[in-house]
Amino acid sequence: MIKEYFGGSDIAEQIYKIENACFTRPWEKDVIKNSDKTCFLVYYQDGEAVGYVSINIVLGEGFINNIAVLPDFRRRKIARKLMGKLIELYLPRCEYITLEVRKSNAAAIKLYKDYNFKQTGVRKNFYRDPQEDALIYTLYKAQKILAIESSCDETAAAVTQGREVLSNVVATQIDEHRLYGGVVPEIASRRHLEAISGVVEQALSDANCTVDDIDAVAVTNRPGLIGALLVGVNFAKGLALQRGLPLIPVHHLRGHIAANYITNQDLTPPFLCLMISGGNTVLCKVNDYDDFEILGATRDDAAGECFDKCARAMGLNYPGGVELDKIATVSDNKKYPLPTPSLSGNHLDFSFSGLKTAVINLIHNAQQKGEEVDIPVLAATLREKVTDILIEKTIAAATQTGLKKIVLAGGVSANSEIRRRFKELENQGFAVYLPKPEYCGDNAAMIGVAAFYEKARGDASLNAYATAPLND
Ligand SMILES: Nc1ncnc2c1ncn2[C@@H]1O[C@H](COP(=O)(O)OP(=O)(O)OP(=O)(O)O)[C@@H](O)[C@H]1O
Ligand SMILES: [Mg+2]
Repeated sequence: MIKEYFGGSDIAEQIYKIENACFTRPWEKDVIKNSDKTCFLVYYQDGEAVGYVSINIVLGEGFINNIAVLPDFRRRKIARKLMGKLIELYLPRCEYITLEVRKSNAAAIKLYKDYNFKQTGVRKNFYRDPQEDALIYTLYKAQKILAIESSCDETAAAVTQGREVLSNVVATQIDEHRLYGGVVPEIASRRHLEAISGVVEQALSDANCTVDDIDAVAVTNRPGLIGALLVGVNFAKGLALQRGLPLIPVHHLRGHIAANYITNQDLTPPFLCLMISGGNTVLCKVNDYDDFEILGATRDDAAGECFDKCARAMGLNYPGGVELDKIATVSDNKKYPLPTPSLSGNHLDFSFSGLKTAVINLIHNAQQKGEEVDIPVLAATLREKVTDILIEKTIAAATQTGLKKIVLAGGVSANSEIRRRFKELENQGFAVYLPKPEYCGDNAAMIGVAAFYEKARGDASLNAYATAPLND
């Protein structure tokens, strides 16, 4: 339990005890008692104060004095919880929060970096006993980002602040593309053009703000349908240039990964990510927010594409993956034996085209013989097969990398069976993170949150790219 105190008069004894156990030069009891302008957050375990953090706020600038946890209570994420609470309570009241840390204190530096503090200076020989430089770390109030996404058949805009979503508007074109059984790129571009102004206006109004409140514009510029991407890129570019705002280009798949930061506020890299969407199936190591290492990818169809194409052969509506998941009942691999793809070379690569062909052939053969296919059972059998493959490869990647945190991303991570089976991996010692269903498919909130972690900035020459590797 964390309790908040203004001034140290009531808790001087408890704070002094923690100080004394943690530092060679602790705060003196009287200083604590008289620090009436200081805010303290104290962590209690079974009624005992075992950790604390304190901050002074002067004219919108927050200075963290100390964060300390009794030695016996370390490695229980107490400092992390205190820091999270401090940021939640005090960042809204400051322009920034800053602190000093010993250069050699790698664990503390990692904690600050996880909370998005950036190194902003050095104080030479600041500490004594032993003498050492202090690094200054600062956390700026998150900018309000207006994010735009138009890479495929959803025109989307959102306002985000750090990992927080202030609004999220998605105008889908699915009904129109359904007539053709798939996305028609030319139609998609035209519909984006018609929708984008209204969608952006709605996102601003839902977030209770105007363009004047926005600090930066983010836009998906790669990969995707080129004509569709260009609508969002040009809109964002025009707005950013006219308003003199920074322009942040975002990789669509990094956006899908960032959807997890919205849902799982405690999630930090490194982790293993399985990205399963309509156009991509990638296993990657997320070393840092902007550092990705691809471990394996599909050599042919993506998981979503396989679901969609099989669903179409089953007579289901586009996008079939969603429908297939809804109608699937109980799998029966004896009734409908489906092949397990075997691949030479990188054992973390995927292949789904053989599976797709097997399902389509099975349906066609049955039709030719005038036999009826039990579609709900076939759908469940396919869903189970795809899930088996995804789980097997993910566990192999976890073993290879030693990573215990598994994160799912992309439209297919909305699949009910995939979610259930991956969550079960928690019984095997993995921590499994899933995006909320509303953030699995394409949306702009995930683009805004990804932009928060991007260093690259665009200008009038910013272009869109149909293809781009995840780490580019
Ligand atoms: N419940 C579900 N079960 C299976 N597949 C699903 C489910 N919900 C959505 N999908 C699939 O997710 C895909 C859409 O996801 P997403 O929007 O991430 O893809 P995309 O943006 O078209 O592709 P990419 O992100 O690779 O560019 C479709 O293939 C759709 O069928
Ligand atoms: Mg997508």
